[in-house]
Amino acid sequence: MPGKVIPWLKVVVHLLCLLPLLKLLMMFHSGALAAESDPVQFLTHFTGLWALWLLVWDLAITPVRRLSPKLSWLIRFRRMVGLYSFFYATLHMLVYVFLFSGYDTATALEGIRAHHWGVPWQQLKLIVPSMIDDVKQRAFIQVGLITWVLLLALAITSPQRVLRAMGGKNWQRLHRVVYVAGFLALMHFWWSLKKGNNAPAVVSIVFFALMIARLVWTLWQKRKKRARMVTA
Ligand code: HEM
Repeated sequence: MPGKVIPWLKVVVHLLCLLPLLKLLMMFHSGALAAESDPVQFLTHFTGLWALWLLVWDLAITPVRRLSPKLSWLIRFRRMVGLYSFFYATLHMLVYVFLFSGYDTATALEGIRAHHWGVPWQQLKLIVPSMIDDVKQRAFIQVGLITWVLLLALAITSPQRVLRAMGGKNWQRLHRVVYVAGFLALMHFWWSLKKGNNAPAVVSIVFFALMIARLVWTLWQKRKKRARMVTA
């Protein structure tokens, strides 16, 4: 892939990753979001699904790139797609905090308009106890929270200068956590549903196929290394 094309492709990938957000903004503007039977549920599901699919596509980049040396340029999109997954996961978490958990947005906004800057914070403090109870009671929320914290750690350490400061080996070791995040995100999805609902089946199959591809590649590399050592 010629180097000149990469910046253009990056623009395309940015636009594609921003499409779901654009759809939400358009739905909000046109009133289609308010017309949903449960707008908050819709927002939770929409942002959660995009966070998960982007995470899985991010994990797909390495195995696809390994199919041919000609595809090595794909690696330059990994960080971007991963950060967009974190972006949608953060929106998802914010929907939970500010819409799902009974946060009084109207009062908070009134406070801001009246320049009473403490009001939004007071409103947040009011819902914290019930949110803590919810986290304690529902295991799938705990798993979601852990997944988000892992994605946060990956996002914070994603810039090149952090990589240099940490050293390549340590950075790589930490960034393997992305597979754990993928697994936990799936667990969170399955556990959020009633028994018999197989909505996460497709994304789970894609995820496990990627994990198998990774395992086969590692074993194959090890075998090649051993064979080289024997011939040497
Ligand atoms: C602080 C972190 C998180 C919280 C509080 C949270 C909360 C929730 C809640 C309340 C639901 C809806 C359950 C219902 O239908 O009643 C949900 C669903 C979901 N969440 Fe999360 N979540 C978190 C993190 C994540 C992360 C990091 C991901 C993905 C990377 C994720 C992906 C999903 C998916 C895919 C669904 C199911 C959507 C559907 O049913 O269509 N969540 N989450």
